[in-house]
Amino acid sequence: MTSPRAGATATCEVVTTRDGARAMLDHETGEVMHPVVGPLVEAARLYVTPSRLAERLAAGSAKDEPLVLLDVGLGAGSNAIAAWRVAEALPATARRLSIVSFEKTLAPFALALDDANAKAFGFEGEALAAGRALLANCIHKTERASWRLVVGSLPGVLEAEAENGVFADAVFWDPFSPRSNPALWTAGAFTSLRRLCREGATVNTYSGATATRSAMLLGGFAVGFGETTGDNKQATVGAVGTNARIPAWLERPLDARWLARLARSSAAFPSDAPWDALARIAAMPQFQPS
Ligand SMILES: C[S@@+](CC[C@H](N)C(=O)[O-])C[C@H]1O[C@@H](n2cnc3c(N)ncnc32)[C@H](O)[C@@H]1O
Repeated sequence: MTSPRAGATATCEVVTTRDGARAMLDHETGEVMHPVVGPLVEAARLYVTPSRLAERLAAGSAKDEPLVLLDVGLGAGSNAIAAWRVAEALPATARRLSIVSFEKTLAPFALALDDANAKAFGFEGEALAAGRALLANCIHKTERASWRLVVGSLPGVLEAEAENGVFADAVFWDPFSPRSNPALWTAGAFTSLRRLCREGATVNTYSGATATRSAMLLGGFAVGFGETTGDNKQATVGAVGTNARIPAWLERPLDARWLARLARSSAAFPSDAPWDALARIAAMPQFQPS
């Protein structure tokens, strides 16, 4: 067995991407979290900006219930801390943020919080103190934001949250790829997630795979095209709007052309799709003429 080097543990390692950013490599899956452009750019581009977190918090009041963000796959903590910084930068009158991060292993988070790596992963000053407090206590609270860590295996821990009365307004869905993390890209996983989502909730994920999009549709979300990822693929956005054909947050909904491609695709559906998945998806409100 090789011993861990500086910037590495037995399970993960800080590497430099081809764009020169520092990012976290997971040895078990061989996957880099936030590949190519690195954690600072990708957390903003794929999660914080398209979820319109700043706008939604600024539009609310500190007297409202906090906006609940589910951070699915804490990893190195870059998505969560980017959201935390948005809340901290807003005036005291703005709506507060409640982040719930889910993770089965804390090794990447601990490595990202190391002095040698923290800045590259978005942890400086108060943000670094918040990250270290979360790692030590699984909870950290300020005037503007609370951050709670749920250590356990997904998707089971999501169901436990529903039983505890936690409901989400925004979700950053960032597990490893469907190849490495198949159970988290099924219709069943998105059905569990949908049960936790309030009216108006949004889901941002980096995966633009056809089967991911059909899993989200089958889970009960309206689904649209997202931003371009660091490796030039297209991300995906989900939204909940039970009374709207297309929820307001969905700027570029999947449309009739996407549906036609779905019908021709050789990898159209998640492993647990029902036999009539295509017909069910075609009947969904967003694919009906306006
Ligand atoms: C792509 S990384 C997340 C990167 C992270 N969002 C960030 O900003 O650094 C995926 C994470 O999901 C976690 N994960 C994968 N499968 C899981 C499971 N079944 N339960 C809980 N966490 C899981 C992995 O341990 C890994 O840290």
